[in-house]
Amino acid sequence: VQESVSVQELAASLGALPPEFVRSEHDQPGVTTHGGAEVPVIDMSEPGCGERVAAAAREWGLFQVVNHGVPSEVIAELQRVGRDFFSLPREEKERYAMDPASGKIEGYGSKLQKDLEGKKTWNDFFFHVVAPPEKVDHAVWPDSPAGYREANEAYCRHIQRLTFEMFELLSLGLGVDKGAMAEAFGGDDLVFLQKINYYPPCPQPELTLGVAPHTDMSTVTILVPNEVQGLQVFKDGHWYDAKYVPDALIVHIGDQIEIFSNGAYKAVLHRTTVNKEKTRMSWPVFVEPPGELVVGPHPQLVTDENPAKYKGKKYKDYQHCKINKLPM
Ligand code: SIN
Ligand code: FE2
Repeated sequence: VQESVSVQELAASLGALPPEFVRSEHDQPGVTTHGGAEVPVIDMSEPGCGERVAAAAREWGLFQVVNHGVPSEVIAELQRVGRDFFSLPREEKERYAMDPASGKIEGYGSKLQKDLEGKKTWNDFFFHVVAPPEKVDHAVWPDSPAGYREANEAYCRHIQRLTFEMFELLSLGLGVDKGAMAEAFGGDDLVFLQKINYYPPCPQPELTLGVAPHTDMSTVTILVPNEVQGLQVFKDGHWYDAKYVPDALIVHIGDQIEIFSNGAYKAVLHRTTVNKEKTRMSWPVFVEPPGELVVGPHPQLVTDENPAKYKGKKYKDYQHCKINKLPM
């Protein structure tokens, strides 16, 4: 018997969930999901949407946006090429395998290595830089299905525009210049990373997670899901579902904005659940400062009454500390 190399392969051959996927009770979605509060859904065509964006960033660290200006055909085409890639035969997908041990962090991968608690998560993925052009390595992008490159490039242009719009609204919400975030995070040197998450059907979804609880290291992460709900958000001690809203994009506040805002905006703690019958997919774009750039609290947001809560740090050093769980 050949060992499974992806969750997709494993799922196709399983009756029950293997024990290394069973979360400890405090992490199981079946016993820790709450109803009640709703993640904000903000209509970007309405006056006052800027205040709502800022309020959601303070209270939730995550919100959904509709009427965001990204055409639905562009989103549908991004989703089509992603789905078609994951439908390719295993050998085809493995031609693009990532290999972090040898420094190749872009490509196709699985989370089949155990985490600190000895647990695995129910997720395969594809990951690559999509902008700026000088940081893109087209050799790691799939050349099948046809149209993959065009679809990703078209979507990225819209996400770049939406990112700068979010930076403006979020800057104004802090009372600083509307260009403050764009400048602090690198402007045209901002790095856009496209990920595709693939969560196959799971025999016992109530016991496991697709992605374990974490905050994103990014400035913002802008994500489009498929129709299978699964993202959950932690707020005031409880986990809440982000409902599936057709045509919405989901904006996550990441660590860099929490730091820039000196804690006024919250990086959102989130996780994902999986489904018994359906494949869940999502397409997050992580928007990151260039590695050499130092990000710290904006000087106007540091006062005697409100001293700096975070140290300024080069983004690449921040990443290193977070990935290796070193003190910040
Ligand atoms: C993630 O946080 O990495 C995944 C979010 C999602 O799939 O909705
Ligand atoms: Fe995330």
